[in-house]
Amino acid sequence: MKKEVTITDGAKIRQLAEAALKTSSHEHGDLSEISPEDMENLIHELRVHQIELKIQNQELRRIQMELEKARDRYSHLYDFAPVGYFTVSEKGIVTEANLTAATLLGMERSSLAGSLFSRFILNEDQDIFYLQQKQLLETERPQSFRLRLVKKDGDEFYANLECIVVEEGDGCPKQIRMVVSDITKQKDLENQLRQAQKLEAIGTLAGGIAHDFNNILSAVIDFAEFALDDVKKGTHLADNLGEVLIGGKRAKLLVQQILTFSRKAPPKLAPLRIDVMVKETAMLLRSTIPTNIEIDIDIKSAKDPCVMGDESQIHQVILNLCTNAAHAMEAEGGKMTIGIDAITLDNGKAENISNLPPGKYVKLSVSDTGPGIAPENIERIFEPYFSTKAPDRGTGMGLAVVDGIVKTHKGHIVAMSQTQRGAIFTVFLPMLEKVEYTPDGIPQEVMPGGKEHILLIDDESSVVKLNKMILERLGYEVTASTLSLDALELFRSKPNHFDMVITDMTMPNLTGEKLAVELIKIRPGIPVIICTGYGKEMLEELFAKIGIKTVLYKPVKMAELARTARKVLDAGRRVA
Ligand SMILES: Nc1ncnc2c1ncn2[C@@H]1O[C@H](COP(=O)(O)OP(=O)(O)OP(=O)(O)O)[C@@H](O)[C@H]1O
Ligand SMILES: [Mg+2]
Repeated sequence: MKKEVTITDGAKIRQLAEAALKTSSHEHGDLSEISPEDMENLIHELRVHQIELKIQNQELRRIQMELEKARDRYSHLYDFAPVGYFTVSEKGIVTEANLTAATLLGMERSSLAGSLFSRFILNEDQDIFYLQQKQLLETERPQSFRLRLVKKDGDEFYANLECIVVEEGDGCPKQIRMVVSDITKQKDLENQLRQAQKLEAIGTLAGGIAHDFNNILSAVIDFAEFALDDVKKGTHLADNLGEVLIGGKRAKLLVQQILTFSRKAPPKLAPLRIDVMVKETAMLLRSTIPTNIEIDIDIKSAKDPCVMGDESQIHQVILNLCTNAAHAMEAEGGKMTIGIDAITLDNGKAENISNLPPGKYVKLSVSDTGPGIAPENIERIFEPYFSTKAPDRGTGMGLAVVDGIVKTHKGHIVAMSQTQRGAIFTVFLPMLEKVEYTPDGIPQEVMPGGKEHILLIDDESSVVKLNKMILERLGYEVTASTLSLDALELFRSKPNHFDMVITDMTMPNLTGEKLAVELIKIRPGIPVIICTGYGKEMLEELFAKIGIKTVLYKPVKMAELARTARKVLDAGRRVA
């Protein structure tokens, strides 16, 4: 009875109070017998009590409001939790669910209560739930498992269920509380990881056997070619040998594809002539793709289109783009055009192409007259594993590999297509402008040199000797010293004699940094390059403050020394 009374039950409280007063008046006798003095005290007491009660009442109201707020907060957290909460009876009927649970199943919360939970489980996974539920109720130990749930509209998704058993009071039936989360994304990632691991395993395997396999194939191709030379053209034998040759070349292409994929080593950069590589690839492709596909090479660039790149990777880019084009035209035939151009991107144009820095680029494009790419797919073609081809025709890795290679070469790729009007893939790669050729025609990067006078300081005589030789070969005049104090005196005596100073950092008596400060005091603006074995940005910032133009990290490579020296000297000239 007491339990039922709430503060808002005004009438009831009054009734109870009057009944209690009656009883207590019986106990305390007749009020008329109380003296006026006692009566006054009694009234005083009653008033104080009344005030106390009012205060208590206010306090109770405040606590009640706080409780209501806390309950609202709790309901909010419960309803909008990132996971679905279900309470299910022993018989599997949903008795309570939060809003997220209803959303997960695409249901109204009101129609969820009273439904059988198993109604939302995919038929094939019903057993999982049945067994887990049985175990849960028997052992009362928390259970966690995965199964597929079905939304109201029929869509399936993978869910993770964490279940516990609760008994809210003696004799109350057991209930199951479940936390349900949608793990479709996690499942997808797991699948992707498994796929990647599989590919990695294939890569390792392929890497191991590819070398031997390549040799075997070379023998097959070479001997088939020899044999073809010896037989009369147009005979059955010649045709059959031709088929052997085509098969061998196809197999070689395949091995190459696997090899690039399995390579973990960083790219080996060397100057490459894109036109030569394109011609080689086209020749290779010609013998492996149907004859109803025409291949046209369109070289617009007047200069040799050279880039700094990893040969097998750039080869992979050309091959993948051409293979895709050939696949697209397989059914109907058509024309594949491989275009090469040398272009200059100025600020505005470069920005349009994914913020490439302005400069000269080799533009390589592969276009076809196939059916093109559907607008809903074009956004996705560079995603790994995205393929519209049958599983035995494509893994969907081709363009993902191409995109990765182009990015590591500081370039950019653009795909454009219109349904039924073919597709065009354009690759921009930074152009290598200064190239010279070895006697057998292999391009080499030309290192920039000059005629300026350089003061070179390093306490290690071997380093000084080597760098002096490199700089002199590039045409510079070099004065070298292994003692920083000597170098300082020399500079003081002829400050206008030198155009630039290259100094080591760690040296006895006078460090490179202090030497630089002194030199700049003598001749403000003299370009100084410091070579150091350690440090990073922090050091560079510090050096920049005292006027040191550039920091080179040891061991300094020849090309780097050449490029940096020229850059710093040219920058100094522009300022002067
Ligand atoms: N020239 C093209 N014409 C039409 N569709 C293309 C063309 N190039 C690429 N695509 C589309 O892009 C998808 C992804 O290409 P990608 O090269 O990454 O994979 P794939 O060719 O399907 O398989 P893989 O290259 O791994 O053998 C292709 O499945 C195809 O739908
Ligand atoms: Mg492909």
